[in-house]
Amino acid sequence: MPESRVPSPESRPTSRIAVLASGRGTNLQALLDAIADGRLGAGIAGVFSDRPQARALQRVAPTLRWSRDARGYAQRAEFDAELADAVAAVQPDWVVCAGYMRILGDAFIDRFQGRLLNIHPSLLPAWPGLRTHARALEAGDREHGASVHFVTGELDGGPVVAQARIPVLPGDDAASLAARVLEVEHPLLVASVRLAAAGRIAERGATVLLDGHPLFTPLQLGSMP
Ligand code: GAR
Repeated sequence: MPESRVPSPESRPTSRIAVLASGRGTNLQALLDAIADGRLGAGIAGVFSDRPQARALQRVAPTLRWSRDARGYAQRAEFDAELADAVAAVQPDWVVCAGYMRILGDAFIDRFQGRLLNIHPSLLPAWPGLRTHARALEAGDREHGASVHFVTGELDGGPVVAQARIPVLPGDDAASLAARVLEVEHPLLVASVRLAAAGRIAERGATVLLDGHPLFTPLQLGSMP
């Protein structure tokens, strides 16, 4: 029999993921855990933060960390340019914002558009921006959740790849709701990055393509391919 030319899973080049994070990094940890136990065929190429004290940085080896205190920069564009150069230097296939709390400027977005994902704690298009849990409660929403979307120049406005939904329970406050949303964020991010790493999703204008076909509604955690 001729030797197979299909590379074994071990020798196939894995997708390189750059992660941007500002805080504790539990979503990053979910990716690291999934990579470690073989649920996610990807590698973390670097973790980038606007806050040198971010707990997220401590979750990876020192050689994978990059941080600058964004408050030390007079111009947003100057910080963004340094960040973009540092991210580009690790040659990522995908750039994933996982609790990255600074707005990215257009130059950064243009440079990585099409391979730039963000996880946001609401069912977009509901509640872009901050205080998503409190605003969902104030509005009397019965359902809340999280979305993974492609990043565009519109804040939290890019095409949505996938969502995870949870019911709002009687007695919920912003903290309890945030904690329950976070529990579904982790599997949602892993499932979404798995599709990205496998080359199965793409951004085309305001649409997400899955396996080359437009998605008319976001994928739902629980029934993701
Ligand atoms: C997550 O809830 C994420 O969705 C949110 O920050 C938290 C980070 O948690 N992101 C945003 O609000 C982005 N606008 P983590 O640091 O434990 O992953």
